[in-house]
Amino acid sequence: MIVYHLSTECYPIAKVGGLADVVGALPKYQNKIKGVDAKVVMPFYNKPFVREHEFDTVFDGFIHQRGNMLQVQVLKEKSDVLGFELFMVRIPGLLDRDNPYGYQDENYQFLAFQHGVLHWLSAMEIRPDVLHCHDYHTGLVPFMIEYCPEFAYLKGVKTIGTIHNGEYQGMMSWEMANYMPAFDSYKWGMIDWNGLINPLASMIKCSTAFTTVSEGYLEELFISFRGLESLVRQEFSKAYGIINGIDTEVWDPKTDPMLDFNFNSKNAIAQKKKNKEKLCKEYGLKPELPLFAFIGRFATEKGADLLPDVVWKSIKQSFGALNIMILGSGNTYIEDKLKEYDYTYSNFALDLGYKEHLSHKIYASADFLLMPSRVEPCGLNQMYSMRYGTIPVVRYTGGLRDTVEDISTGGAGLNFTYAGVDDIVHAMNRGLSIYNEKNIMENLIHANMNFDFAWEKSAEKYIALYNN
Ligand code: ADP
Ligand code: GLC
Repeated sequence: MIVYHLSTECYPIAKVGGLADVVGALPKYQNKIKGVDAKVVMPFYNKPFVREHEFDTVFDGFIHQRGNMLQVQVLKEKSDVLGFELFMVRIPGLLDRDNPYGYQDENYQFLAFQHGVLHWLSAMEIRPDVLHCHDYHTGLVPFMIEYCPEFAYLKGVKTIGTIHNGEYQGMMSWEMANYMPAFDSYKWGMIDWNGLINPLASMIKCSTAFTTVSEGYLEELFISFRGLESLVRQEFSKAYGIINGIDTEVWDPKTDPMLDFNFNSKNAIAQKKKNKEKLCKEYGLKPELPLFAFIGRFATEKGADLLPDVVWKSIKQSFGALNIMILGSGNTYIEDKLKEYDYTYSNFALDLGYKEHLSHKIYASADFLLMPSRVEPCGLNQMYSMRYGTIPVVRYTGGLRDTVEDISTGGAGLNFTYAGVDDIVHAMNRGLSIYNEKNIMENLIHANMNFDFAWEKSAEKYIALYNN
C-alpha cells in the first residue's frame, strides 16, 4: 500500500508545533508494518536540513495560477534518512521561504502547494493508494482530485483528512477561486461554507474519511467547531478519532542527546534532580522548591493568556514556595506581562522563543508540566513530560482527557475542569501538597515514565482505516 502524507510541517525539517512531530514520526512507524510504503510531501523551505542533505530533482514542470506560469520542482532527499521518502515541492517565490507560516499571501502559498503536488503526481502518472492530507493547508486536495480535469489521472484515489486543529480553517474569499486549478464549477458547494471558500470544511465534505487526533476532541467538535458543528454531525459516519503517539526514538530520556543527564526508570529520581539543579542554576531558580513548567505557543487556545495571573497568584499564595518556568512565544501582550514578572519574581524564569534543546531539558527537569489549554486536539507536551517523569497538570479537555488521568481516580496526573486562574492554581496547590511526600512523588514519576504512548498502536489504526 502506497501512502503519501501531504503536510506543511515535518520534524526535523520545519516545525512550528505538534503537526511536525506527527508527520515526522507516523510514516516512519507505518513503514515498519509489512506491505506499507508511506512517504511525505511538503513545501520546500530554506532550512538547515535542506542545506545539510542531498536531493535529486525528480520533477521539473509548470503550473498556471491565474495566467501566471509558476515553475514547480520536486526534490527527493537521497538517502531516506528519516525512515521514509521525503519530497519537497519548490515553487520560486512561494515555496522556498524560511518558515511555513506568517506570510501575507499564504493562501496563494498553500494553493500552489496543493496544485503543485497534484500536478506532479498526475504528470508523472503516480497513483498512490491513499493521499493523507494534514490540516486545512492540504484540505482542498480531496476536492481537487475529484473535480479538477487537470488531475483526472488521480480521480478516485482514496483520501484521508486529519484535523490537527479545527481552530484554523483557512477561510478565504471566493475571489481566490481564480487562483485554483480549473474545476467543475457546478460543484462549487463542495468548497463553500457560509459564502467563503473553507478548505477544512471541504476536506470534511470530500475526503473518503476524516480523522481527529484524539477521540475526546472529535466528541467536542460535534458541539463546538467554529461554525462547522452541523457539518461534522452530518458527516459523522466517516469520522474517526485516532490518538497521536510520540516518537520514542527521538523522545527517549536514556539516549536523548539534548539532555545534560540521561536517565532510565531506575536512576530517574537522582538524574532528574541533577537536570533540575543545572537548569535552576542557569535560570536563577531554587532547586529545592518544586518546579512547574509551561512550554508552548502563547495563544488563547493554550490558555497562555492566563499564565501571567497564574504566576502572580501561585507565587503569592504559596509565599514563594515554588518555581515556575515558561518557554514560548506568541501574543505580545502576554510576552510583555511575563517579562515584567520575570524582573519582579526571583521564583519565575522566562525564556522567549522557540528552543528545541531547552524544551527537552525542561521536560526532563521539571516536577510538573502545566497545560491550561482551552482547546487541545491531542497535545504532545503532556506525553513528552510523562515519558520524562514529569507530572502533567492539565485541563480536562480533548486529547488531554484521553491521555492524563487524575491521581484521585488512580491516574498519575492532575486534572482541572475550567480554564481559569483559580482552578489552575488550585491544581498547582494539589501538586505542592504531594511534592514533599517522597514516596508518592517517586511512584508518580515511575508511573508516568511507564505509560506507553509509542506510535505503533495508532499507526496500525491508520492502516486499518486505509484498508477499510
Ligand atoms: P501545538 O501543536 O498545538 O503547538 P502540541 O502539544 O501538539 O501543540 O505540540 C507542541 C510541540 O511544539 C511539542 O513538540 C513542544 O515541545 C514544541 N514546542 C512548543 N513551543 C516550543 C518552544 N517555545 N520551544 C521548543 N519547543 C516548543
Ligand atoms: C495541533 C494541536 C495539538 C496536536 C497537534 C498534533 O497543533 O493543537 O493538540 O497535538 O496538532 O496533532
